Amino acid sequence: MVNIRHNILKVLRQSPGLFVSGGELSRFTRISRAAVWKHVTALRREGYCIEARSRCGYRLMEEPDRLRPGDLETKGVVYHPVLDSTNLEARRLAEAGAAGDLVIITEEQRRGKGRRERLWASPPGVGLWFSLLLRPREFASWHVSPVTLVVAASICRTLREITSLPAAVKWPNDLLLGGRKICGILTELKGEPDHIDYLIIGIGLNVNHVPADFPSSLRETATSLYRESGRRWDRTDLFLSLLENLKTDLECFFREGFAPFRPVWKEYTCTLGKRVKVAWPGGLLEGTALEVDGVGALLLEDDQGTRHRVTFGELDDPANI
Ligand code: BTN
Repeated sequence: MVNIRHNILKVLRQSPGLFVSGGELSRFTRISRAAVWKHVTALRREGYCIEARSRCGYRLMEEPDRLRPGDLETKGVVYHPVLDSTNLEARRLAEAGAAGDLVIITEEQRRGKGRRERLWASPPGVGLWFSLLLRPREFASWHVSPVTLVVAASICRTLREITSLPAAVKWPNDLLLGGRKICGILTELKGEPDHIDYLIIGIGLNVNHVPADFPSSLRETATSLYRESGRRWDRTDLFLSLLENLKTDLECFFREGFAPFRPVWKEYTCTLGKRVKVAWPGGLLEGTALEVDGVGALLLEDDQGTRHRVTFGELDDPANI
């Protein structure tokens, strides 16, 4: 079903603004003209504006801002129109015995998970909400902590290449544009110290949001590619580019560790050299971020000149730094 509609759209897109006859669509999709009409009606219900004119055929006038499941599924990605959370779905699949190397994406999350049990607003039509389920069996848990930095650097590189916008990585799991948050990463792991059962990497990227798409509490501190560039981005194409680079970079990380990524991360970061605050046992630690070490920990110098090695945590919101 989805593939037939995908093929109808493919043909219509090849002739922008022009009519394609019912006969041509029926030949290409190998279904009757009556069935073409039924699928066009279904596509209209999904928000596609398709003009039908007798003796001319069909013409695609406007597409809804929706992910294209057909394009995603041909790349082995599991698509859901709506989920509670892609991280939760990945966990359910992992617990049910799914093999690794799974990618789950959804148009909308009803209970998107942010860090520290926060909700991650994930409305339909504007963002990319997806999770990778990995089972790097030969890899020990104690070596895995820099994976979030690797993922952040990979996304940053793709965004810079595709949009030419100066995206930056903020230790440990955020991407910023113009000082505002554009992407968050939530990494969850199940395993023993010397063995990973599964690893879930959840990524939320704000793509075509206008300010009203953000909860009012985030309007000042969050941004989107649309807000920064003034143009809308094809989310399916963007996602497929992100995924290609993520797969290459993660393979390299599981083979060679953080070393090849540390210089890249340092090139992209807006954290080093800045004053930062981080939650610390016994209060808030404040100081200057000096360096990221070989396993992704942040070295911070406080106002007394004492150096601290921070292995996990969250730097205060950008507006407060
Ligand atoms: C953060 O707090 O910065 C991390 C946000 C991570 C959000 C993404 S959206 C896709 C995936 N599924 C979730 O439920 N959360 C992550």
